[in-house]
Amino acid sequence: MLPSRGSSLFHVIDPRVFERPLLDELCALATRARLLAKTEDGARALRDLLPTRRAMLYFTQPSTRTFLSFNNACHVLGMRTSEIRDPSTSSEVKGESFEDSIRTFSSYVDVIVMRTKESGRAAQAARLMNGIPRPVPVINAGSGSDQHPTQALLDIYTLQRSFEDQGGIDGKVIGMMGDLKRGRTVRSLCYLMKNYKNVRLVFIAPEQFAMEPDVKAYLDQHRIPYTETTRLSDVLPQLDAVYVTRMQTEWDTSGESRAVDLSHFSIGAPELARLKRDAVIMHPLPRGPEIDPSVDQDPRAMYWRQERNGMWMRVAVLIKIFGVEQRIGEIPTV
Ligand code: CP
Repeated sequence: MLPSRGSSLFHVIDPRVFERPLLDELCALATRARLLAKTEDGARALRDLLPTRRAMLYFTQPSTRTFLSFNNACHVLGMRTSEIRDPSTSSEVKGESFEDSIRTFSSYVDVIVMRTKESGRAAQAARLMNGIPRPVPVINAGSGSDQHPTQALLDIYTLQRSFEDQGGIDGKVIGMMGDLKRGRTVRSLCYLMKNYKNVRLVFIAPEQFAMEPDVKAYLDQHRIPYTETTRLSDVLPQLDAVYVTRMQTEWDTSGESRAVDLSHFSIGAPELARLKRDAVIMHPLPRGPEIDPSVDQDPRAMYWRQERNGMWMRVAVLIKIFGVEQRIGEIPTV
């Protein structure tokens, strides 16, 4: 699935298509929008960028931050939004097919942002769009346990901001911990790592929730070194970033998450004491018991900033999709 048409971004489905120049441009756009929004004039100029554009937020799987950050990213740019969050309120309950529903959205809006419980639905919608006379871009806002590309983009933005004074993401040791088997955020973030030099990944997971072979094969193919362990304590002092994830209990079939002793995959005061002084702690949120709330006070806790970065990265994605990146560059800053 090609990400672009002409020089603009079009569908955002699979993180593997993102190359470093586009990632750097999106991070720069996110920063530009974030800084502009700090002033009244800047915020007004941002709202003038896309006042005639409309977005459909089709979120049939629960979401707090992805939904709210896309909704507010649209509003930052002056766009209007429609939403379906409960499929029982859509004509799908009358038997309308998924394809016809998506095509109907495209009759009214200029972009479809979608989260689904099933993997592959956003890709299916994008393929459908590619075959109709008035296609609109489709953004995957989380598809099953498979991919979450805009989360990966905001994670890259957070890592880049965090390591701004330490040479950027290149050369960093990044730990990913928790339910790596069923966590779409870590799967997507792994794919983007091919864009950074000398990055080393450390997977910290219970054996039954280890990173899946397809992602490891991709890392091998792109010569990205990784190691695997079931013991955070063995690797903690090496890490520049630790990306913590929760157990994805929604995919349990017989309570298998309950068998995991989470104390081995958690961050609290003892772990903070052994973590590098300039390391960062990330989490896509929502969190469970794997990060003690007392960690929030530690300057290395980056997850609340990461969450907020999500809105700015989604602003950047929309700017790029609608090709107004030059116009944002022309807005004067005071
Ligand atoms: N990180 C994330 O996708 O959060 P939500 O499920 O709340 O959108």
